[in-house]
Amino acid sequence: MDQRTVCVHAGGEVDPGSGAVTPPIHLSSTFARDADNALVGEHLYGRYGNPTRDRLERALAELEGGGSAYALPTGLAASMALLQAACSPGDRVLFSDDLYFGVRKQLLGPLTRWGLVAEPVDLSDLDALDAALSRGSARMIWIETPSNPQLRVTDLAAVVARARAAGSLVAVDNTWPSPVLTRPLELGADAVLHSTTKYLGGHSDVVGGAVVIPADSALVEPMLEQQRVGGSVQAPFDCWLLLRGLRTLALRVRAASEGAQALAEFLHADPRVVAVAYPGLPDDPGHAVAARQMRGGFGGMLSARLGSREAAHRFVGALRLWTRATSLGGVESLVEHRIAVEGPDSTTPPDLVRFSVGIEAPEDLIADVAQALDA
Ligand SMILES: Cc1ncc(COP(=O)(O)O)c(C=O)c1O
Repeated sequence: MDQRTVCVHAGGEVDPGSGAVTPPIHLSSTFARDADNALVGEHLYGRYGNPTRDRLERALAELEGGGSAYALPTGLAASMALLQAACSPGDRVLFSDDLYFGVRKQLLGPLTRWGLVAEPVDLSDLDALDAALSRGSARMIWIETPSNPQLRVTDLAAVVARARAAGSLVAVDNTWPSPVLTRPLELGADAVLHSTTKYLGGHSDVVGGAVVIPADSALVEPMLEQQRVGGSVQAPFDCWLLLRGLRTLALRVRAASEGAQALAEFLHADPRVVAVAYPGLPDDPGHAVAARQMRGGFGGMLSARLGSREAAHRFVGALRLWTRATSLGGVESLVEHRIAVEGPDSTTPPDLVRFSVGIEAPEDLIADVAQALDA
């Protein structure tokens, strides 16, 4: 079925007890047993499972074309859980050298102390990946495409082919495109990660994370262990908010993609803008690959270089309609002078401005950008 239909119906069956069309929120932390100590229903204890979380996990698995999904409290809790479920101390992990800075910090900080050997590679350059694999085996290749914040595009099918030959797992952080535009498991990835805080929630009112894996994955038990023994689970009310967000995911992602395409074209035509990174632009280095692996748009995220740290700072400060805040994927458009958010360890160019295009009318967003460039 079309993703627009899946978004509306996944995990949304009518509640058999009450007939309620919208799912009930089960807040109970524990579940009763009968006089013989048998469980009355299917659930045991909130950390092990909860009917509202079950619905969300089923919906996420369906949207990504996976066999099972795991809802965790944040995107970073999800990446931590997946890396610890799939890897052992001593394993080597290759990761996109342009990557959400929190995951990079996790790989190079706590997970390096745990024993991982984490190495950045430009995964948009397959020769660089071949060279890294020829230097030694890798347990996992960790991809973001388009990457955060420079929108480099990685050819998922080509990396999967190399990973198969090298005996590596492929994990894809699919937060930016969302399953509306890209379904990495269909292209052979072994795991998909989401910060559900972003497009899946869609309203900047819930923080969450998820991992989705194929039906035959060896990661089922290790991921259940991360939830049940590691203790990393999403609370029921947050699961419910995410289920509500999913219903409009396809509409929101398509609207944001249209707005981002229009803004990218506007910025590209302005001589004061040094560079625009958006895979929907025909001359973007990632365009051909993105056109092949993204369906129905190139996403709501883009970045632009304004020539200097001062110009970027001034521009962001002059915007009136856009909200200056970190994060992305909500209905409202957000803007960041990215290096100022990432801090001293940042590898982001100092003149880069990152845009998360919301679902407002593109002409209103562009008018504000135009007045801020003139300011
Ligand atoms: C691509 C990507 N992955 C992971 C994360 C981490 O998610 P969270 O903030 O929900 O922990 C983010 C957050 O910005 C992100 O943009």
